[in-house]
Amino acid sequence: MGEGGSDRRAERLARKIEASKSKKPAKSKAKEKAAVREQERRDAIFNAFSNFYEQEYGHERWQTLIEALKKPVRHCIMVNKYSNTDDFKERLPMLPELVPLSSFVSIPCFALANIEKEDGVQEERRFPPPQKDRFGITDYYILDAGSVLATEALDIQPDDRVLDLCAAPGGKSISIMQRLGEYGSLTVNELSPDRRRRLRQVFDGYLPPKDERITVMGKDGTKWYSEPEQYDKVLLDAPCSSERHLLHDDKEFEQWSPKRTVYNSERQLKLLKAAVHSVCVGGLVVYGTCSISSAENDKVVSKMIRKGKVPVEVVKKTWPIGERTKYGWIILPDRTEGWGPLYFSILRRTGVSKQDDNHKEEEDQED
Ligand SMILES: C[S@@+](CC[C@H](N)C(=O)[O-])C[C@H]1O[C@@H](n2cnc3c(N)ncnc32)[C@H](O)[C@@H]1O
Repeated sequence: MGEGGSDRRAERLARKIEASKSKKPAKSKAKEKAAVREQERRDAIFNAFSNFYEQEYGHERWQTLIEALKKPVRHCIMVNKYSNTDDFKERLPMLPELVPLSSFVSIPCFALANIEKEDGVQEERRFPPPQKDRFGITDYYILDAGSVLATEALDIQPDDRVLDLCAAPGGKSISIMQRLGEYGSLTVNELSPDRRRRLRQVFDGYLPPKDERITVMGKDGTKWYSEPEQYDKVLLDAPCSSERHLLHDDKEFEQWSPKRTVYNSERQLKLLKAAVHSVCVGGLVVYGTCSISSAENDKVVSKMIRKGKVPVEVVKKTWPIGERTKYGWIILPDRTEGWGPLYFSILRRTGVSKQDDNHKEEEDQED
């Protein structure tokens, strides 16, 4: 090959190098643009979220509330009365720092004291994982203290017949079982098979084997009309927007929209109507959510009172933590050293249904 050939080859090579130089930045620019667009989309969702709740709570309160919601969720331990906890002290090395929550719950629960670091930021602290005693029963359950308060509100008596209409993963059911005696009973219901499986595992871990006081069901709670006036107490811990959880999960947060609250509130109303249908006259229903949206809290209760066929009255009580709402009580983390969110309303059934409920009875699917 002559000189002309190698010149042309060198030219081609030079052109290739130039082309590849100009391509690379173009590619990374496209990536950059996509990243910017993605961030803008996320910001737009966050702004819509923030505006929605700012309207509800007002600018000043929302600023403190959102900051508290972004902090790691605070937990307490609920000691399991079915477990042998004699060696508890040895197993909880930080025991001296444990704060008993006896001022607002009547079963043994403890929190870790909040400790601020030098820069004013709260130290994130965790409990060691629970352990089994020699009979295989787990010693404590880790949950939000607000959840224990919601079952406190049910005022459970040892012999009560209790229904937990939306029960998985089971923290509140375990809390109910701490209060029930030998002749009480608890029916737990959970629609999702996977979550029902988890619920059974929790019962296996925390309760005596083959506990005949428990019945596990897998029905759609919105259609729970086959057991009218059968229970002394009904807990409805309803599926909800769970905003604090969303703020800690980027993927879930992207699903948020005001429509979600509307959808949830419609389902919650159906569940609440079924719950009050199942409780006996004079019995209590506790309606609870971990949502901060009044559309999913007080407004559901208000609609049920106005439109439901079962007469109820709101039981007004004051609790050592949290704040009153029109029909209930709410525990929000900015005013309760990090607990919550947890809303609950206590309803007492005052009479029989105003007219026959024309609900299609569902076949009980005990499993
Ligand atoms: C807030 S969680 C309950 C948490 C539980 N009480 C606890 O303390 O661990 C709500 C549960 O309701 C269930 N659920 C949703 N729709 C339901 C329905 N129509 N009937 C029964 N359960 C339902 C969800 O799968 C979810 O497990």
